[in-house]
Amino acid sequence: MINIALPKGRLGEKVYNKLKAIGYGCPSIEENSRKLIFENEENGVRYFWAKPSDVAIYVERGAADIGVAGKDILLEYQPDVYELSDLDIGKCRMCVAAKKGFEDNTERALRVATKFPNIARNYYSKLSREIDIIKLNGSIEIAPILNLSDVIVDIVETGTTLLENNLEPIETIVPISARLIANKTGYKFKYDEISKLCQKLSELK
Ligand code: PRP
Repeated sequence: MINIALPKGRLGEKVYNKLKAIGYGCPSIEENSRKLIFENEENGVRYFWAKPSDVAIYVERGAADIGVAGKDILLEYQPDVYELSDLDIGKCRMCVAAKKGFEDNTERALRVATKFPNIARNYYSKLSREIDIIKLNGSIEIAPILNLSDVIVDIVETGTTLLENNLEPIETIVPISARLIANKTGYKFKYDEISKLCQKLSELK
C-alpha cells in the first residue's frame, strides 16, 4: 500500500486525475464528501487531502510515502525528502513586486512582505541587500499599497492579482511547479512500488 498525500484543491485534483489515469484510481475519493482519507486496496493506494503547505511535513515524517508539493514550499521549508520528479503542473513563479514606479532607496533596509521569509532572505543575501522581513500569511499584495512594505516576494501565476492592485513584477526569483516527493525511508522500503508509479507518471506526460 502506498500512502499518498495530496494538496487539497485544484492542483491536488489534477494530480489525482493523473494517478487515476495510470491505474491508481480510488472511487471513494470521487464521491462528494468531507472525508479526508480514502483507500483502494485493489490498487494498493491510500490517499489523503492535506493543506498544501503541510504535505511535505507528512512526507518528511513518514505519515505519507509520497506526496505533491510546490517547489515554493520545498525551497522555503527545505524538508528532508527526495524530490522524485517535476510534474509540470501548478506552474507559476516566485517574484519580487512593487507599486508601479517604485524606486529602491539603498540607504535603508528594504521592507519585504512575504509568506516566504527564507526564500526572500536567501535572494537578498545573494544581492547583499539589507532587508527587513515582514512575515504575512496571505493577501500579500495589500502590504505595499498600505505602505506596510516597499516590495513583496510572492507567487505570480497569471499576474492578475498584481495588475488589479496596481503592482508590477520587478524580478523573477525562481520558476515554480509541483513536485512529486518521497519519504526517504519509505522510498527504500517501497522502492519497487514507488518507482513503478513514477515511471508510469513520466510516460503519461
Ligand atoms: C497566490 C499568490 C497571489 C496569487 C497570484 O495567492 O499569493 O496572491 O495567488 O495569482 P495570479 O498571478 O494568478 O493572480 P493565493 O490564492 O494562494 O492566496 P493568498 O496568498 O492570499 O493565501
